[in-house]
Amino acid sequence: MAVRPIIRMGTPSLFEKSVPWPANKFDSPELHALLADMKDSMIAANGAGLAAPQISENVRVVIFEVDNSSRYPNREPIPFTVLINPVLTPSAEEKIDDWEGCLSVPGMRGLVARYPTLRYTGFDEIGNAIDRTVIGFHARVVQHEVDHLDGVLYPMRITDMTKFGYTEILFPELVGIDED
Ligand code: NI
Repeated sequence: MAVRPIIRMGTPSLFEKSVPWPANKFDSPELHALLADMKDSMIAANGAGLAAPQISENVRVVIFEVDNSSRYPNREPIPFTVLINPVLTPSAEEKIDDWEGCLSVPGMRGLVARYPTLRYTGFDEIGNAIDRTVIGFHARVVQHEVDHLDGVLYPMRITDMTKFGYTEILFPELVGIDED
């Protein structure tokens, strides 16, 4: 369909809570068009995930995928997933730290605490129920993307601001890849 602009931190709508996708609009032309634009935009930006608010649509729709390509040499693969109206249920008490980036905060990385394992439920584009329990990077990506639906960008979750900076300074070998 179309690559759409990914809006960046500072845009007020990124800090809004998005509304649920209407139950009577699954498998609709409107939803398929939105998802096509999201996928095109994510691929064009080399992203591992994208939330609808990042292309200025404040609805509770996210996509993510990590394939086996060299773009993500240090990450386990995640199947391409459309997740609509998600609900997250952490299955761990303690969060663990890892580095994140975001297409709406280009060129930067920050250390963020996330649950290492969780269950997520929601719906695919047809309206079929999704129910998965995941660990590791998969769990982290889902938490990052669902935060976007609640108006939260990862820098808002950084507790040690000395662990927030430019990718080219922190991780020169990662420049241009592995954006979330
Ligand atoms: Ni992001």
